Amino acid sequence: MSTFKPLYVYLQRPDTGQWLTVGKYSHDPSAAIGRFSYAPSYIDAGHPWSIDPINLPISAPGPFVSERYGGLHDALRDACPDSWGRMLIQREHGFTDLSPHHAYLLRAGNADRWGALAVGTVRKPSVPELSVPPVSSLDELSLELLAMQERRAPVNKALRKRLMATPSMGGARPKATVHDGQDYWLVKPVLPSDTEDIPRLEHAIREWGQACGMRFAQTAYQQAGGDSPLSVMRSLRFDRPNGRRAMTLSAASLLQTQYPGGADTALWSYPLLARVLTLIGAPREDATELFCRMVFNAVVGNDDDHPRNHAVVYQHGERRWRLAPAFDVVPNPDFTPDYLAMALSQGDRKISRQNALADSAAFGFESQDEAVEVLDVLLARVEHHYESIRPLLGDRLDALMSDRLKKGLMRMSRQCEN
Ligand SMILES: Nc1ncnc2c1ncn2[C@@H]1O[C@H](COP(=O)(O)OP(=O)(O)OP(=O)(O)O)[C@@H](O)[C@H]1O
Ligand SMILES: [Mg+2]
Repeated sequence: MSTFKPLYVYLQRPDTGQWLTVGKYSHDPSAAIGRFSYAPSYIDAGHPWSIDPINLPISAPGPFVSERYGGLHDALRDACPDSWGRMLIQREHGFTDLSPHHAYLLRAGNADRWGALAVGTVRKPSVPELSVPPVSSLDELSLELLAMQERRAPVNKALRKRLMATPSMGGARPKATVHDGQDYWLVKPVLPSDTEDIPRLEHAIREWGQACGMRFAQTAYQQAGGDSPLSVMRSLRFDRPNGRRAMTLSAASLLQTQYPGGADTALWSYPLLARVLTLIGAPREDATELFCRMVFNAVVGNDDDHPRNHAVVYQHGERRWRLAPAFDVVPNPDFTPDYLAMALSQGDRKISRQNALADSAAFGFESQDEAVEVLDVLLARVEHHYESIRPLLGDRLDALMSDRLKKGLMRMSRQCEN
């Protein structure tokens, strides 16, 4: 059995905000599996919250065995960094790509991690408050993130130390959290390797999607950096409403697929995700919203719509999981993609009107006609609202997106039905 000490898993209660011990995780390296059990105290107290309603339902007895991620349960993997944070941990602690996922889980630290879970080696929860730089330090912070990415010496040693201590958020791009009072924002600067001004594009696309009636995480865009302006966008963290933690889960977890690194890409599917949303009690409007996001991604050519770029968040006020606000919606800057990362209808990732409508029942539509109407209303809105976001893009990105919009609308129009 494992030489790795079991980890206690803590949860910030959605109702009172108190931390409690929700269960225990252990790893068996010889079999590359992990086991999670809800704590008897948690079950006896009758708490209603499953930390993952699909893979770890509180109603089942457990223990739950996990084989994905070398034996780390999906909900715990969601609380781990992806390539950016992993790289920082590798530099700081000498880890490699072969280091087990649970080692990253522990090293990433609890304060900044996504969602409402934390881990520790002692039974009693002890979770530090998130202490991050203020939004006023965004210029300095962006320069420091770039220096970190390029392996340059610290520009500001104290800031570097702080950023190295909070490497737990997901995604590939350099990022950090800042606070503005009770609001927490995820900051992402432009990179030297970007072929377009990605932060500017991401912010403009968010405004566009929101104007079309979809729910996006709020974003802000600014030029930071003084002498040599640096493009930076930030996204309001929906897992830290009013400074408290909200339970979250990625679509990868809900779809029971490993991302990145999994072979079961057949599970990366919008209609499947829509069915799972319904299964976990999200209202029908969330399935419709997901359908609209799928169509929007198809039109704007966001083919980075992988299963970690969709999520659900637990809304305590409603006592249920809801589709999280859209985030990381960025059109491919280099070419107009023919395929999305997730299938539009079961087994088919191709961007086409026919494909978008093929599995309409999964999205809760009562008839094909209803899906057609929602699709056409959305397309009209996407076209209409482009005018209002053009100034946000600037000339270069406007040229890119005008062309993209034309192609996208054409592909999704009735003329291209067959
Ligand atoms: N506004 C937000 N609120 C809460 N969590 C967020 C928000 N935006 C992103 N996240 C979380 O942070 C992770 C990384 O963010 P994001 O996807 O924007 O980064 P990225 O580096 O551009 O990702 P990718 O590797 O997909 O390109 C997401 O997968 C999600 O878990
Ligand atoms: Mg992402």
